[in-house]
Amino acid sequence: MPRVSYVNGLYRPHAEAAVHIEDRGYLFADSVYEVMPVVGGRVRQLDQHLDRLDRSLAALAIGWPVPRRVLPLILAEVVRRNRVTGGIVYLQASRGVAHRNHLFPVDAAPSLVVSAWAQPGPSAKVVEEGAMVVTRADQRWGRVDIKTTGLLPNVLARQSAKESGAQEAWMVDAQGVVTEGAATNAFIVDAFGVLRTHPINPAILGGVTRLNVLELARREGLPVEERAFTLVEAKSAREAFMTGTTIMVVPVVRIDGAPVGDGRPGPVARRLRALCQELRAR
Ligand code: PDD
Repeated sequence: MPRVSYVNGLYRPHAEAAVHIEDRGYLFADSVYEVMPVVGGRVRQLDQHLDRLDRSLAALAIGWPVPRRVLPLILAEVVRRNRVTGGIVYLQASRGVAHRNHLFPVDAAPSLVVSAWAQPGPSAKVVEEGAMVVTRADQRWGRVDIKTTGLLPNVLARQSAKESGAQEAWMVDAQGVVTEGAATNAFIVDAFGVLRTHPINPAILGGVTRLNVLELARREGLPVEERAFTLVEAKSAREAFMTGTTIMVVPVVRIDGAPVGDGRPGPVARRLRALCQELRAR
């Protein structure tokens, strides 16, 4: 079945879906994006993703490329035309097309592209046996809470994790604090049994899955603290896991080759994964 993607008002054959060479997303990564889950043919957690998109656009003073109320219709149409039942819908909004100049263009209209594809979750092996992460220096800029397409440090970290035989890279700042993964948020159950993750601030991307997992954990009555943890604490944690739209919750069983806890997925990660799956299917 031929894929169809949306580009600035038109549904185009995917192979021909293109933006101009002077699109500022292409020139300067002057653009923001969202990756949303599709379950049962429907876009899930839509409002949370659109709220975050709103914050990203506002932080960069980029206008909505289409009114917010129209965007769900476009997303649903791209999902429908590609017959995605389980997978991803991706959107990217840039400041628009203008002759190359660092200054904001005065008359460019923001551009919007949307694509969708079927994508299975993580493999059964990773879910059952857990994932390995390696740590890398966090080399990103100071506003990674804005979901821009400027992801080169994330790309390099994820690639180098793969080359080390790991599924994800956890980024560690100059103070030895684990901020987050290349495309996931990082959690531990610390030596005292407290579920911890980095607080919301400009040093991490506030994941939608992170937020939902925190709420589910609180509802379960687990002790939860949005308090940063160091790599040393992660290595002596009872459990570790990571969260994100494409993986939901995946247990982390090794950090830089050393086992976390007994080296097997822990009960908290398993439970939260199950609850997260339920939430998404609702
Ligand atoms: N990444 N941290 C970073 C740096 C991310 O890029 C992402 C998402 C997350 C998790 O956020 P959420 O739970 O809202 O997916 C955390 C997307 C999936 C990506 O770039 O592909």
